[in-house]
Amino acid sequence: MNTMTRLLVCAALSALPALLIVPAHAGLPATLQVDVNKPGVAIPGSFYGLMTEEINHSYDGGLFAELIQNRTFQDPVPRGRQTTPQSLPIHWSLVGDGTASLDRNEPVNAALPLSLRVELSGKVAGVSNDGYWGIPVRPDTTYTATFYAKTGGGFKGPVTAALVLDEGHVTVAQADTKEVADRWRKYTVTLTTGHDAPTTAKAQFVLSASGTGSVTFSLVSLFPPTYQNTPGGLRPDLMKLMADLHPAFIRLPGGNYVEGSTFNTRFNWKQMIGPSDQRPGHMGCWGYRSSDGFGLPEYLLWCKQLNAEPVLAVFAGYVLNGQHAEAGSSEMALYTQESLEEIEYVSGPKDSTWGKRRVADGFPEPLPLHYVEIGNEDWFDKSGSYDGRFTQIATAIRQRYPQLKIIASAPVKRLKPDVYDDHFYRDARTLMNQASQYDKARQPAAMTFAGGAWNRRQTNGILTFVGEWATQEGRPTPNCNAALADAAFVMGLEKNADAVTMECYAPLLVNVNPADRAKGYPKASQWKTNLIGYDALRSFGSPSYYAQVMLGQNKGDVVLPSTLNVAPVAAATQPASAPMSVFASVTYVTASHTVIVKVVNISENSIDMAINLRGTERVDSSGTATVLTGDPEQVNTLDQPTNIVPKQDRVTGASASFRRTFPSYSLTVLRLIATPK
Ligand code: AHR
Repeated sequence: MNTMTRLLVCAALSALPALLIVPAHAGLPATLQVDVNKPGVAIPGSFYGLMTEEINHSYDGGLFAELIQNRTFQDPVPRGRQTTPQSLPIHWSLVGDGTASLDRNEPVNAALPLSLRVELSGKVAGVSNDGYWGIPVRPDTTYTATFYAKTGGGFKGPVTAALVLDEGHVTVAQADTKEVADRWRKYTVTLTTGHDAPTTAKAQFVLSASGTGSVTFSLVSLFPPTYQNTPGGLRPDLMKLMADLHPAFIRLPGGNYVEGSTFNTRFNWKQMIGPSDQRPGHMGCWGYRSSDGFGLPEYLLWCKQLNAEPVLAVFAGYVLNGQHAEAGSSEMALYTQESLEEIEYVSGPKDSTWGKRRVADGFPEPLPLHYVEIGNEDWFDKSGSYDGRFTQIATAIRQRYPQLKIIASAPVKRLKPDVYDDHFYRDARTLMNQASQYDKARQPAAMTFAGGAWNRRQTNGILTFVGEWATQEGRPTPNCNAALADAAFVMGLEKNADAVTMECYAPLLVNVNPADRAKGYPKASQWKTNLIGYDALRSFGSPSYYAQVMLGQNKGDVVLPSTLNVAPVAAATQPASAPMSVFASVTYVTASHTVIVKVVNISENSIDMAINLRGTERVDSSGTATVLTGDPEQVNTLDQPTNIVPKQDRVTGASASFRRTFPSYSLTVLRLIATPK
């Protein structure tokens, strides 16, 4: 401590006679007054949601259960990987005695311009795929392989599909097609592993044939069992983790992904509907190509299976290389029209033009849609064109769909949005400080926008959507300290649910595979801190994930007014690394008379809190407590997925006035039954 700091601390101590000198780690006294009979702001059912995009292999190599990477042979070669003119497409290798090469002649269709041709030399030959950092296999499991194939050079016979280990020395499942035709046909085979098959992420998928002549392949696909057994569907473990978050909405399709790096690679949803063989795929904005097997219908499937509503972001004429289309231009007319059609695809009647296409894609019923966001983070567009672009699209949407609420992604002047989307990626301390930025009592007079967010609640009836936020501490998933700061932030939003109508952490998903230098594969992730991690076989929730589960499952329908007082502590007892921070938020489930008390203690002292439930007629003495606690730096990993997980505890001795100790570095959720007077 320098002399000036010492003087300031001494001055502060002498000015505050009530300041406690508490030994580190001792319980600090605190009181929480709750007015149970004075329900405050209502918390919308839509409050908690999810957000990700094609980043970190969130879909390809993540939620989309497809196991073949580069299934149409169009993926670019990663920077630094050595190739020759004879090299096969990335993730594909030759197996057996033959040769293989890319073939551009007579493609299946325009969306599948490339195929992979194997020349047979009398023995067994074929091609293998190594998946998304490995193909996962498990015992007693059935996989469905589909591919286009055709023969040449007089070859007659079946194709064998197999799941193999140890460079093909061990076969764990295999199946033959019928005799392959000499023109393109789609083949489907099922592969079932035995009871004694290993559980591993190291398998490869092989297509081979035996004889002379050639076999050519296109759109090679392999699916394991999916969530709710939907063909071409989603990965069950990730869906289960998401379902436990109780999301009410999914903000889709991005993020930067809606914009794309260039106009040609924007989120062009019309190229991402229909059967998979009609989807050409496109270069994503996070350094890898998207197969678009996870396209608009799969977004709808994701929503439907989680019982969540889409919050649909439409492309708004700005791309990440900085270019934009001018309001009033023919390009903007096209993007505006595409937005209207996209809304019709998602939510229009089944006999409308685009509703019919949705029905053909497996969704007879329109999805509920209440919010449409125009663009994403358009504050990056320094030309000032967003005001005009927003106005053009929003006006058209309001004319056609007056019931929809329009979200603006950056400040606009010409047309009033219904909602603004604020983004916060911060360190723990900064985010916790921002937990109160929407508090009525703490509103700065001047309204400013910086770094992705406004500085306060909106006026004129406009609401706020906190559409991306995270404490960025811990890589590739947040640590315990981040989880607690995240919880404090969300509790601050929840208390202001009259101003903040929805929130979602971002990004949601990360494939945690590191780079494979031997094969020249980059690491799977691009973003530093993400909520849920996985490889091909396993997955885990971060501490922040569990904090969000606790909050999502304990929302309540109304905020109860509460006042938290924590005894001030002498600065000398608090190491600079662990400043004192306690946060509380109290909500109520009216139908069941449940008071939900949420407390974050992000200090090294436990908190000995007197909880006063005022205005109650009766308080049950027993309740439940869920506690998440751990060292600030602790994380969960694939190998140790449950280092930090919530523990259940019983509350006994609850009353209108009772005490409870909240451990250091913890998030606690109490559920108590209390009837108001
Ligand atoms: O969530 C990751 C990225 O962060 C999003 O694509 C973008 O909107 C934000 O800058």
